[in-house]
Amino acid sequence: GAPVEVDISSLQPGEMTVAEWRGKPVWILKRTPEMMASLAKTESEVADPDSLKPYTMPLPEYCEKQSRSRKDHKDVLIAVGICSHLGCSPGKKFAEGPQPSLPDNWVGGFLCPCHGSTFDLSGRVFKNKPAPQNLDVPPHMYLSDTKIVIG
Ligand code: FES
Repeated sequence: GAPVEVDISSLQPGEMTVAEWRGKPVWILKRTPEMMASLAKTESEVADPDSLKPYTMPLPEYCEKQSRSRKDHKDVLIAVGICSHLGCSPGKKFAEGPQPSLPDNWVGGFLCPCHGSTFDLSGRVFKNKPAPQNLDVPPHMYLSDTKIVIG
């Protein structure tokens, strides 16, 4: 598939947009400082914090382990929105705090509606969930602060 160019100039902190790449949904989430801070808290609660066992593609080597994004655009998560369990697309669920159907330690992240896998705001799957692997982070680069090329 051809690389896809996405303009994120209108994306506000806390907002997510969805692009399509190789027929798959790619989430682009601009994380707030609070969302970034949540990643240190989930570090010990996710199954594979360093993404050592990737789903269909390795974490690009230029991405940091915790933010799973490029150092110069740490706040922006770019992830393929397909669950590594049976391929559903986890919905976004950014709510804070305990809620029905969400774990008590939920700080905001993604919930797969199919069998309840939950992912942190870097797309890392929480421990003891049906999904064995983190969401894929596709190869990507920035043409400018607001223009991304995926693929
Ligand atoms: Fe996501 Fe089963 S497909 S939990």
